[in-house]
Amino acid sequence: MHIQENFNLKKFNTFHIPAHAKYFSDVLSVDDLLEVLVFCQQHALPFMIIGQGSNLLFKQDYPGLIIELNIKGIELVDETKDHFYVKAQGGENWHDFVQFCLQQGYYGLENLSLIPGTVGAAPVQNIGAYGVEISEFLFELEALEISTGKRLTFSKHDCQLSYRQSIFKAELKDRYVITNATFKLLKRAQPNLSYPALRDALKDMTESEITPQAVSNAVCEIRMSKLPNPIDLGNAGSFFWNPIISSEKYLSLQKTYPDIVAYAHESSYKIAAAWLIDKAGWKGYRKGDVGVHKEHALVLVNYGEASGAELYDLSVRIQQSVQEMFNIELQPEVRII
Ligand code: EPU
Repeated sequence: MHIQENFNLKKFNTFHIPAHAKYFSDVLSVDDLLEVLVFCQQHALPFMIIGQGSNLLFKQDYPGLIIELNIKGIELVDETKDHFYVKAQGGENWHDFVQFCLQQGYYGLENLSLIPGTVGAAPVQNIGAYGVEISEFLFELEALEISTGKRLTFSKHDCQLSYRQSIFKAELKDRYVITNATFKLLKRAQPNLSYPALRDALKDMTESEITPQAVSNAVCEIRMSKLPNPIDLGNAGSFFWNPIISSEKYLSLQKTYPDIVAYAHESSYKIAAAWLIDKAGWKGYRKGDVGVHKEHALVLVNYGEASGAELYDLSVRIQQSVQEMFNIELQPEVRII
């Protein structure tokens, strides 16, 4: 167990906020993790697990111990006529895992290419992009119960996955650490081109050219064209969820704003938060080092030396303006600490 004190988190969150943690520990195995959790209990320290800090905004310094889960390893654990079962440890980089699967001929995750973060963090918010959510391919996961140190297996069903949501963000929040996840992947490629922007990007290819790797490449290109790379520009992807509103409310908004972007979602409508923020005039806004990305209104950015508090204030102002203009409450997708 290696614990560092007064640790600068700038390199450990994709917003590049220089908040400090009282303590920090990089954990390489489940045994390491258990030791660190016991240390926290003994010292009555609050703690928090981070993967690559890709969905976090530190509004202030953290008074406890930050645990970077860095457990690695990928293995093929089973196969049937149509499927491969692939287990990845929680600290594996998500995009590297997707690329590894594609190289091995394990298909299905290609639409989720280039999502920042780790395998362990992915099920917590049921990551999704370009028409696919991991709920389609997750088979089961193992998690450590923090209070007892017991290891439990959760089936996909147990995880209660829905849009950017799981049991680990709801009734089991802060009670488990996901240490690995097993995915049920396809032996035969079945490209999912349901997302219009993706279909459009591949429209000049023949069916045989649309391989899973070609889909992955197209997803990477679309993401790179509109989402800033956190290595170059601090950001955490979409800052807010796409709000879900009733059909009545949607139809009434549509009368005033015929170009509103929305998708039918069960019996309601999911509205593109990017469109709302864009329409409210925020796209490309910059003050000091905080701003709204000029290519995508749902992405808040740190141009250099912004503080977490400044970014948070900007997010509140955006929420207020969307509320005033559309009577819609935006909820942060990013975890604010
Ligand atoms: N739009 C605007 N202005 C903008 C950007 C977009 O009006 O500045 C409109 C466009 O008309 C576009 C629509 O908003 O058609 C939706 O935009 P986009 O396709 O980029 O998707 P999104 O709804 O903003 C969601 C996810 C992303 C994911 C993409 C692609 C959420 C909160 N975000 O974004 O996930 O990559 O779909 O599937 O659901 C993330 O979670 O961090 C993330 C980036």
